[in-house]
Amino acid sequence: MSQMRALVVDDEPDLRELLDITLSRMGLDVDTAEDLASARRCLADRSDYALCLTDMRLPDGNGLTLIKEINRDHEQIPVAMITAFGKVEDAVTALKYGAFDFVSKPVDLEVLRNLVRTALKLRQDDAEKAAAEPAATVGKAPATEKPAAPEVLDDDEKSLLLQRLIGRSEAIKRVRQTIVKLARSQAPVFISGDSGTGKELAARLIHDLGPRSEEPFIAVNCGAIPSELMESEFFGHIKGSFTGADADKEGLFQAAQGGTLFLDEVADLPLPMQVKLLRVIQEKTVRPIGGRQELKIDVRILSASHKPLKPLVEDGSFRNDLYYRLNVIELHMPCLAERRGDIALLAGHFLDSIGEQWGEPPRTLGEDAIEALRQHNYSGNVRELVNILQRAVTLCEGDVITRDDLSLDQDAIPADGGIAERPEDRSLDDYIEDVERRILENALREARYNKTEAARQLGITFRSLRYKLKKYGID
Ligand SMILES: Nc1ncnc2c1ncn2[C@@H]1O[C@H](COP(=O)(O)OP(=O)(O)OP(=O)(O)O)[C@@H](O)[C@H]1O
Ligand SMILES: [Mg+2]
Repeated sequence: MSQMRALVVDDEPDLRELLDITLSRMGLDVDTAEDLASARRCLADRSDYALCLTDMRLPDGNGLTLIKEINRDHEQIPVAMITAFGKVEDAVTALKYGAFDFVSKPVDLEVLRNLVRTALKLRQDDAEKAAAEPAATVGKAPATEKPAAPEVLDDDEKSLLLQRLIGRSEAIKRVRQTIVKLARSQAPVFISGDSGTGKELAARLIHDLGPRSEEPFIAVNCGAIPSELMESEFFGHIKGSFTGADADKEGLFQAAQGGTLFLDEVADLPLPMQVKLLRVIQEKTVRPIGGRQELKIDVRILSASHKPLKPLVEDGSFRNDLYYRLNVIELHMPCLAERRGDIALLAGHFLDSIGEQWGEPPRTLGEDAIEALRQHNYSGNVRELVNILQRAVTLCEGDVITRDDLSLDQDAIPADGGIAERPEDRSLDDYIEDVERRILENALREARYNKTEAARQLGITFRSLRYKLKKYGID
């Protein structure tokens, strides 16, 4: 391959020169432009740039315009924005316009070099893609569904990965397409969606399909870390910095270095931690507890919550500035009720994999069972479907799972909140406690007695689950 080339657009000659030297040292050829007009001329001359870096304020217009044009006419060129110091809004806007990343002034050369390396990996992926066979198709149709038109995907490997997200509904197809785009960007993504809709799966795909795929993917459940340990978990600590710190400890940010940190259930972050996190995300450095030095970090942040964040921002329990920073792009995972057409396909897939995992021959679903699954109200979405099938496989005596094996009514908490009438001989408190106890027991069973998991399914914090279990004497 010939030498890779970058385009640097900035009206300050000093900065142009600094960027030119830095990129050249990384083995790139560099073209520079001092305004929009000359940048456009460069792009018209050659469209094989491996990277474009543009300033925001240019003499004849805004760098955002250039980002827009490049995304329209040269989609394959990763473009990053140079933003003024402290202008978080500008960085966010640039990411929303399709910049894959940003670097703020004064330019930190290490941050810049990380950014360039990511861009070059994107470019390399594209080159490999072009060399690979062009078309690939997704998922075979089961007998019960009519086959869908084959979907053309980027390359074999990517399509294989994307197949982990099962479904042929329009809603899921859109999610897959969005994931492919988000994987290229370095922008923070907030993944919304009800419990069990596949938020974590989506986060992994964004990581696995992107330029950081070879680096770590670290998932952390923000609701499961006791608040007094949080800072040390996230940023690490130095031996002796507090009682009990008997060795140096690496934080999650350091563990995710070069890769992705997935902040799951981010709505559960206590406010003081939100402040610290915001600082880290903005400054791209962490300081371990008791440490003297700030460590540079290069980590992409993905986050998720089954609770919508907006209302929490409004009632003051989630910081607006952090919300703004995490939610640069939102990916919404549709719930099963919005894509009932996918239920049979998902069920077939899970039955196969349960059989495989448990070393048993795969069961099939009877017509009545399929119909019942299609009708069921899933408060726990795909995760609940998996649980129902696991239970059914355990209960089922033959090869075919029947409606009865599914025992759907046993623990149904109707989605319409249709709780039975309160018996007259019971007080309201009594009755509510009873319902709560049943819900807790069901959740524990479904989570296979994993409390963290049960808390997650119930949408409550680990602490609050622990409290409730104690209250009801459930062990
Ligand atoms: N479209 C899908 N195709 C295949 N498997 C899926 C799909 N969606 C979800 N799953 C599976 O369902 C289970 C739940 O998914 P995941 O943990 O990603 O959901 P979540 O949205 O993070 O849930 P929660 O809000 O409870 O944390 C996982 O086993 C996941 O692999
Ligand atoms: Mg999750």
